[in-house]
Amino acid sequence: MSLILGIESSCDETAVAVVEDGRNVLSNAVASQIAKHAPYGGVIPELAARAHLTAVCPTLDEALKTAGVTLDDLDAVAVTHAPGLIPALLVGLNFAKGIAASHNLPLIPINHFSAHIYGAFLEQDSIVFGDPDLFPMLAVVVSGGHTALVVVGSDGKMTLAGTTLDDAAGEAFDKAAKILDLGYPGGPVIERLAKQGDPHAVNFPRSLTPSSGKPVAPENRFHFSFSGVKTALLYHVKNLGGVESIRDQVLFDILASYQEAIVDVLCRKAFDAAQYFNVRSIVLAGGVACNGALRERFQATVPKRYRAVLPLKKYCTDNAAMVGGLGWHYWKRGVIAEPGLDAQARLPLNQTIPIWFDKVQP
Ligand code: KG4
Ligand code: ZN
Repeated sequence: MSLILGIESSCDETAVAVVEDGRNVLSNAVASQIAKHAPYGGVIPELAARAHLTAVCPTLDEALKTAGVTLDDLDAVAVTHAPGLIPALLVGLNFAKGIAASHNLPLIPINHFSAHIYGAFLEQDSIVFGDPDLFPMLAVVVSGGHTALVVVGSDGKMTLAGTTLDDAAGEAFDKAAKILDLGYPGGPVIERLAKQGDPHAVNFPRSLTPSSGKPVAPENRFHFSFSGVKTALLYHVKNLGGVESIRDQVLFDILASYQEAIVDVLCRKAFDAAQYFNVRSIVLAGGVACNGALRERFQATVPKRYRAVLPLKKYCTDNAAMVGGLGWHYWKRGVIAEPGLDAQARLPLNQTIPIWFDKVQP
């Protein structure tokens, strides 16, 4: 039995978790800063860093207490060091370095993007990440910072098949909420209000898909673009007389149609890529994977030949269980950080996850 401490501070959640053997989440403490950033309609890096500083010690205490362990019981510390907001990442990274140094523990460098993919496998009853039958796998990572289709081979090599040319899917939700004065983050509030609306009331554009009316250039077949749907929303709102004149059913219909356009594009592109790259499983991951309309569409339309993996909602948005869980695979393979490990705002996605193929079946 091995215990890995996971630490995550790449954006606006301070998170610490204790995960056993890459799978059993003993604790998953998350301190959210949403209220601090909400007045600005987005995350302010300096505010995030300050909030991480005050939250990180109590969040660690909570994670250890819930797990019923002490720092002396740990085998390694895994920490998100990229990609993300540098001031925010530095808090978690330096905190992790301090714990690792003072307790003589290996430090494991975690890529936030890969951790989101791993998060989809946490606490799944019948599916484990180290199951060779899942590979090659298509990961559809949809968050505030990413919209990417990544093929993961059985050697753990990630190959970027497509990404967004402008806004990420989560960003499209957040910016729509800003346009309509609905607060931050946009995803949850849009999902809630869209439930009362008609998803076919407004025909929002589906950029870079054949249904956009324009042929899609081959090089953009697996890429996304969400700035067009956001601009279409902006003009639609203006044409109706501005935000003040949009309420009740009109608002619900707009939101349901906007959400529908995003969900439609994500599912169509994902299934097209799955077929093209001949994968065996499709994994949905990242904060937008919380979205009920996306989950329903994905489940209802995913072709039966693929193993479909939908994360538990609590492991979609930023958390440290995904960091501690993935960290175990690195630790089993002896991949540990250099002492000078630094934070990075961006990382090339074509990296390799050192997957430990677990013989233990769920
Ligand atoms: O993965 P995440 O917590 O942070 C990043 O790594 O970016 O994702 C946050 C994003 C935000 O843009 C938020 O609006 C979106 O996920 N999100 C949702 C929902 N819950 C969170 N989008 C659509 N529907 C939701 N229910
Ligand atoms: Zn994230």
